[in-house]
Amino acid sequence: MVHSTQTAATGIRFYRRGAWHTLDGITPTRTVLQYLREDCGHTGTKEGCAEGDCGACTVIVSDVCTGAPRHQAVNACIALVPGLHGKALTTVEDLADANGALHPVQQAMVDCHASQCGFCTPGFVMALYELYQLHAGKAVPTRQQINDALAGNLCRCTGYRPIVDAAVQMFAQRESAEHIARRSNTIKALQGNARKSVAVLDSPAGRWFAPRKLTELLRCVAHHPDARIVAGTTDVGLWITKQLRTFGKLVSVAEVAELRQVRVSRKAVSLGAAVTWSEALPHLVQHFPAMAELLRRFASPLIRNSATVGGNLANGSPIGDSMPAFIALGAQIELARWDLQRGVMENRSMPLEDFYLAYQKTALRTSEVVTGVRVPILAADTHFRTYKISKRFDQDISAVAAGIAWRMQQGRITSARIAFGGMAATPKRAMGCEASLVGQVLNQATITRAQAALEADFAPLSDMRASADYRRVVARNLLQRAYLEATGVSAPSLHAGVHA
Ligand code: FAD
Ligand code: FES
Ligand code: FES
Repeated sequence: MVHSTQTAATGIRFYRRGAWHTLDGITPTRTVLQYLREDCGHTGTKEGCAEGDCGACTVIVSDVCTGAPRHQAVNACIALVPGLHGKALTTVEDLADANGALHPVQQAMVDCHASQCGFCTPGFVMALYELYQLHAGKAVPTRQQINDALAGNLCRCTGYRPIVDAAVQMFAQRESAEHIARRSNTIKALQGNARKSVAVLDSPAGRWFAPRKLTELLRCVAHHPDARIVAGTTDVGLWITKQLRTFGKLVSVAEVAELRQVRVSRKAVSLGAAVTWSEALPHLVQHFPAMAELLRRFASPLIRNSATVGGNLANGSPIGDSMPAFIALGAQIELARWDLQRGVMENRSMPLEDFYLAYQKTALRTSEVVTGVRVPILAADTHFRTYKISKRFDQDISAVAAGIAWRMQQGRITSARIAFGGMAATPKRAMGCEASLVGQVLNQATITRAQAALEADFAPLSDMRASADYRRVVARNLLQRAYLEATGVSAPSLHAGVHA
C-alpha cells in the first residue's frame, strides 16, 4: 500500500458554479470564509462572530461521501478550505437563476419583509435552503422544526417572526428548472469524482493529509506525531480564528470510512469517531429516548453538521455535553495506533471516565487516535436521564450537564452510574453519590442522602457561566428531578411545581 507521506500532493479540488476548482499552495488553516471573501471577493457571505455562533457565514457543502447526496449548511468561518476537497460549495451568491430570478427561499424572505440591515440575511437564507432541501417532496416542517433549524442563526434587528413566516412560505414555491438542473449536475460531478485514496495538500505554510482508510490514517499519524488531528474543526477552528494558533501539519479523520460507521446491535450502539452529531443523535435518541433534548440543544444544526463524536470526546472539555450521558450509560471509548516497529495496528478500549486524567489531559498516547465509542443498550430495569443546564436554551455551552442512571430490582437500587460535566476539571463520576444509592430503597430519604453525598464528590469553580454555589444546587436538583421522573412525576407537573 502506498504510504500517505509518499503520496503525491494533490491540491484541493472542489466543485462550485458548474466547474471544478483546484487550489494549490493554499494555507491549510485558511477558512472557507476567508477564501470566499478575501481570495474570491465574494462578500455575500458575511462574517459576524468568526466562532460558529451567529450563522452569518452559513454556506452549503454538498457531498456523496455516504452514498446519498447531502447538502449541509455549515459555518464557513470555522470550516477549513482543505475540508472541501472532493465536495461542492454553494453560497448565497449561487442561488438565483442567471436572469436574476430569486430562489424560493430568497423570494419568501423578500415577500415576508424578513430583513432589515441584512447582515444576517445570507446566513438565514442558506440555513433555510438546507431546510428546503431536507423537506423537498415531504410534509412542510412544523414551526418547532423551523425554529430548531434556525437555532444557529442570530438576527439583531428584524425579529424572528417574519423569518419564520418566510420559512413557511418558501415551500409554496417550486425551484426553477434551471436551479434543479444545476443541483443535479453538481451531484453528477461529485459522483464522477469519488475519491478513494489519501489526499495531501502541500503548501509553504503547512501540510494537510486526508486519508480514506483507517490503516492509512494510523500510519500517517505515526509518521507525523507532531500533526494535529482534526475532524469537523468546530473546536480547532476557534483556536485558529480566535487564538491565532498555527498548525504546520493537520491530519483529517473526517473521511476515514471505518470511522464514519454507525453500528447498532442488540447489545450496543457503536459510533465511529468521525460520525457527526447530526448523524449520531437520531440513532442515540432511538435507543436512549432521554437524549432527545440533546438532539435539539447540542450546539446548533450548523455545528452538528460538522462536529464529530470523536472530536467531542477527544477534546475532553469539562463542559462537553455528551460525556456525562455516555459515562452514565457505561460507554467504552475505542482507541487505535500504528506500531511502526512491528507494522501492526494496536487497538484498546477503556471506560470513558478513565480517559479523562486532568484538565485538558486525556489517556490518549502519542500517535493514538480515537476510533469510536461503544454505548451499551440499557437493561429494561434501568432508569436513565440526561440534562443540560445553560443560560440559553439554544446554542449554548453547559453550565452543568448530568448523566444519571440507576438499576432497580425488587424495589432496591442495585447499581448506579452518575456523572456530571461543569462540576470538576474533567467530566467525572459522582462516586460517593452512587455508593449512597446502591442497595437502598428508592424514596425521598435515599435521594436526600445521595444529594448530601454529592457535596463531597465535587468542588466546582465559579466562572462566567455559573457560580460554584449555583452548580452545587443545580447538581442536587437534577438528581431530585431524575427521582421525580422515575416515580412518575412528568416534566409539565414539575414545571408547574416550580412556578407555583
Ligand atoms: P475538532 O475541532 O476537529 O477537534 C477537537 C479536538 O479533538 C482536537 O484536539 C482534535 O485534535 C481532537 N480530535 C478530533 N478527532 C479526533 C480523533 N478521532 N482522535 C483523536 N483526537 C481527535 N460542544 C458540546 O459538547 N456541546 C455544545 O452545545 C457545543 N456547542 C458548541 C457551539 C459552538 C458555536 C461551537 C463552535 C462549538 C460547540 N461545541 C459544543 C464544541 C464542539 O462543537 C464539539 O466539541 C465537537 O464535537 C467537536 O468535534 P469536531 O469534529 O469539530 O472536533
Ligand atoms: Fe458567526 Fe461564522 S461568522 S458563525
Ligand atoms: Fe439586521 Fe438580521 S436583519 S441582523
